[in-house]
Parts: sequence; structure tokens; C-alpha cells
Amino acid sequence: MTLRVGVVGASYAVGTHLPVYAASDDVELVAVATAHEDTARAVAERFGARPHVGYEALCADPDVDLVDVATRPSRHREMVEAAFAAGKDVLCEAPLAPSVADGEAMATAAASAGRSGWVDMQSRFWPGLQELHRLVDDGYLGTVENVAATAFYPTFTRPEAVAGSGWCADGAYGASALRVHGLHTADLLRWLFGELTEVRGSAATRRSEWPGGVPATSADSAAYTARTPDGAVCSVHASWVARHGEGWRLAVHGSAGTLVATAAGHTGHFPVTLRGARADEPALLDLVAPGDEPATTPFAELVRRLAAGGAGVPTFADGIAALRVAESVEAAG
Ligand SMILES: NC(=O)c1ccc[n+]([C@@H]2O[C@H](COP(=O)([O-])OP(=O)(O)OC[C@H]3O[C@@H](n4cnc5c(N)ncnc54)[C@H](O)[C@@H]3O)[C@@H](O)[C@H]2O)c1
Repeated sequence: MTLRVGVVGASYAVGTHLPVYAASDDVELVAVATAHEDTARAVAERFGARPHVGYEALCADPDVDLVDVATRPSRHREMVEAAFAAGKDVLCEAPLAPSVADGEAMATAAASAGRSGWVDMQSRFWPGLQELHRLVDDGYLGTVENVAATAFYPTFTRPEAVAGSGWCADGAYGASALRVHGLHTADLLRWLFGELTEVRGSAATRRSEWPGGVPATSADSAAYTARTPDGAVCSVHASWVARHGEGWRLAVHGSAGTLVATAAGHTGHFPVTLRGARADEPALLDLVAPGDEPATTPFAELVRRLAAGGAGVPTFADGIAALRVAESVEAAG
């Protein structure tokens, strides 16, 4: 049976979720809701869907099986809980919520309604990261000793990014460098190596004004250390106001090998390449090279898996665990 989807929010979703649904053979895009009639009509017409004004109307639509909540984090809980109360499954944008407590309440609402909740932490579906996961599981690295991730993005030094997602400057909406783009790194580390322990770090708002004079209160810069369940030593350093930031890099050093994954920007949108070498090889080799990336996107792969039942798609539990990392680092100041 085709999965019938309704999307709440048509800002980020316009360039990412809606084109994927509209082109998918696995799902049917049934409806789109925004806060205003004119935008709801225009977007619905563009993507061949039914318009609704307000998330309540979309949740009440009997033809929708799964509600995709693609609004800022501070709005997620009421929208997600309304969808579960209406008997729908949910795909929620990342971060799942502005706080772990809100995320846990949303997970409880899913359990009470007997419905499923997934989170759009799509980065793991790049072929380079699927291959990294497979190699880690196969023991390519031997004993994992050191894991180092850096995520330096120039995003909010650019006026066009601020114009589109200026709400990210305001911590009250549930945004920060670790909670939005940086959340994907926490998700990837947990997915690759298991739950992070001994998370200790520091986060700060170092840039108090974004282009266009937008005042900023969200933490734009953060660093933390952690241990994997096997005891490997892990570090993560992230910023989304790094003007000349080179993107994302994850280096994993083990007793039997080394793997290095890179992307030119936020892993949610920039293809990930993978290089590696076994201990007896002198230099890193291309394992998943730039030209190997598929015509499809990681979000399209996530949708394909959702339509097939959801195997491997990040759940609300994953969303809460990743958020817990960000929250504990930011709580430390
Ligand atoms: N997964 C990723 O890689 C990634 C990357 C960037 C952003 N995000 C996430 O995407 C999400 C959406 O970001 P955004 O910038 O589009 O957020 P936004 O808050 O700007 O969304 C605005 C949209 O929500 C609609 N809306 C507001 N109130 C509504 C209501 N009551 N009923 C129906 N619609 C309503 C508005 O009409 C508008 O279309 C965020 O959670 C963000 O963290 C994820």
C-alpha cells in the first residue's frame, strides 16, 4: 500500500521534502499545510497536493497516513502530539524538540497512541556513511582508539541563509549549531559506535549579530569530548558561523585501520566521501569517491525506507539521544 503523506510547513520543506515526495513512486503526497491560505494554496498547487491552513486541518485529513512536521523546533511538540492524537504516524524534522523533556513527552504520546515517530536525521543515508558503518561493523578498524569530528560551516555568515532561516539565531526556537546541523554528527557517532558517554563540553554565542542586523542568542560554536561504549576517545568541534569553514570531517583511527569521511558542508545536504587504509597500507585510498555519489539524496533514501516500513530510519529515541548530547554540552555553558 502506498504511504500517504501530509507535510506541515513549506519553508525548508519546499526545496527538500516536497520535491522528493512529489517525485517518489513509494509515497503519495496528499496534502500540505502552512499558516496562511495564500502560501498553502500556492505550494499545494506547485506540488500537486491538497492545501490546508493550519496543522490541525492536515492532521484531521482522513487521507493522510504520515504527517511530516517541517517547522521550527519550538512548534514540533504541539504539531506532533496533534498528529498522534489523530492516529497518524510522524516524521519530525531535526531537532526533534527544543528540549529532551519535550522530546520524551512526544515519545510518550507516540506510545500512548500506538503510532510510530521518526526523525529526519538523514545524513546516515549517504553511501559514504553507509559504507563507513559497514566497515566499522566488519572490524576494518580493529580496536577503535580515536574519533575526531569537525564541522565548520559558513552558513550564517551568508545573508541568503539568514534570510531563509533567520529564526536559527534565536535560541528560544530550539536552535543552535549543535542542535540543528551539528545534531547529525551526534547521530552519526551514536549510530557508528554506540551511545556516547562522559560527554563534556562547552558552547557559546560568539557572534551576537548575523548579516542584516539580526541579533543572535543561539550557541553558534561548541566543542565536546566523549567516550564510545568501547572506550575510544572522541572529540567534536562545530560552528555554523565559520566564514572559511571547510565543512565536515570525521577521522577514525583504530589498531587495524583508519577511515576518514568528509563533506564540503552540512552532512544533511553535502555528499560524503570516504577514504581509508588498513594498518599495512602506506596511505589512505578512496573508498567512496566524489564521483560515486548517487543522483538521489539521503532524504529520498530515508523516504524510500519509511515507505518500506521504516527499518534503519532514525526514531524518536535516536532524536532524543542526539538532543541529550547537545543539551548537556550547552548546559555546561
Ligand atoms: N534535516 C536537516 O538537514 C535540516 C536542515 C535545516 C533545517 N532543518 C529543520 O527543518 C525544520 C524547518 O525549518 P524552517 O526554516 O522551514 O522552519 P520555519 O519555522 O521557518 O517553518 C515555517 C513554515 O511553517 C508553517 N507554519 C507555521 N505555523 C503553522 C501552523 N500553525 N500550521 C501549519 N503550518 C505552520 C509556516 O506557514 C511556514 O510554511 C526545522 O526544524 C529545522 O531545524 C533540518
